[in-house]
Amino acid sequence: MKEINLTELEAAFQSKLDREIRIEPNDWMPADYRKTLIRQISQHAHSEIVGMLPEGNWITRAPNLRRKAVLLAKVQDEAGHGLYLYSAVETLGADREETIDDLHSGKAKYSSIFNYPTVSWADMGAIGWLVDGAAIMNQVPLCRCSYGPYARAMVRVCKEESFHQRQGFEIISKLALGTPEQKEMAQDALNRWWWPALMMFGPNDADSPHTQQSMNWKIKRSTNDELRQLFIDVTVPQAELIGLTIPDPDLKWNQETGHYEIGTINWDEFWAVVSGNGPCNRERVAARKKAKEDGMWVREAALAHAEKRKARQAS
Ligand code: 3HC
Repeated sequence: MKEINLTELEAAFQSKLDREIRIEPNDWMPADYRKTLIRQISQHAHSEIVGMLPEGNWITRAPNLRRKAVLLAKVQDEAGHGLYLYSAVETLGADREETIDDLHSGKAKYSSIFNYPTVSWADMGAIGWLVDGAAIMNQVPLCRCSYGPYARAMVRVCKEESFHQRQGFEIISKLALGTPEQKEMAQDALNRWWWPALMMFGPNDADSPHTQQSMNWKIKRSTNDELRQLFIDVTVPQAELIGLTIPDPDLKWNQETGHYEIGTINWDEFWAVVSGNGPCNRERVAARKKAKEDGMWVREAALAHAEKRKARQAS
């Protein structure tokens, strides 16, 4: 049997990357490439699933039937994104149940943004506008990720994210351009969600242990800071358009660079939330654990049914 030559395999892998040929599940890939994809895609899936909780809190409190139907559709989309991404992570040989258990045990992360409370209807607008807006910035480049199943999953996810962002911006615009009380609600929501939305893009590039390698492997096509800047440059004019003020006294336009400059992000807050000490971390993980426990009877019934059917077919 031909001796497996690692150098040849690595060279073939790199040549595929260089020629922009997608890496597929059955292709040889470096163990660390597989490991970082399992890490990122599983945590992306967890983010989608946990992300349903803050918005789910307002489905029964939506101000009218149309808003309720739109929010319901959005939350259902997020569930689909999560299941899509769990399927993508399984193509790398990860076990779905173990992955979800890692979320429940606190071993795996999910996006920091979902650890903040949703205290008013305006938060539904701020989440769609800012959180899904940031997610789009981060997920569009992932449509060109070198790993095939992840890139293809992102194409459909991004189409749905655009609807999510539009419905959010419609909610926040209606409030911002409404009565003084409604405008105050919208501004309060922007004040609470602006900085956590900037944190969604991850630590500064200089403090990111994964970005350089992920760029080399073409998992990431832009760095954390590049995407954050893109989001800021697009979102600040949107806030101005509806008469809201970005809660950053240091925000200023730099004519030379053609970008906005912002104040300092509170990285202590970011790392506190990422390490489980945000306002809602415990509540979010407890809700996911309870969902699994409450749904065990469905799994057991489905497994029993499948066993019985298998036994009938075998007899
Ligand atoms: N929340 C929680 N953890 C974060 C984080 C955040 N906002 N940003 C970074 N981290 C973690 C990373 O996971 C990593 O920890 P780990 O080694 O234990 O996994 C550590 O902080 C260092 O960060 P890096 O920037 O070096 O890590 P990455 O290269 O993985 O970059 C990322 C972080 C930009 C979030 C990247 O993982 C990514 O692009 N993930 C895919 C997109 C995603 O997960 N988006 C989250 C939101 S999904 C969403 O918003 C749903 C929408 O429908 C609302």
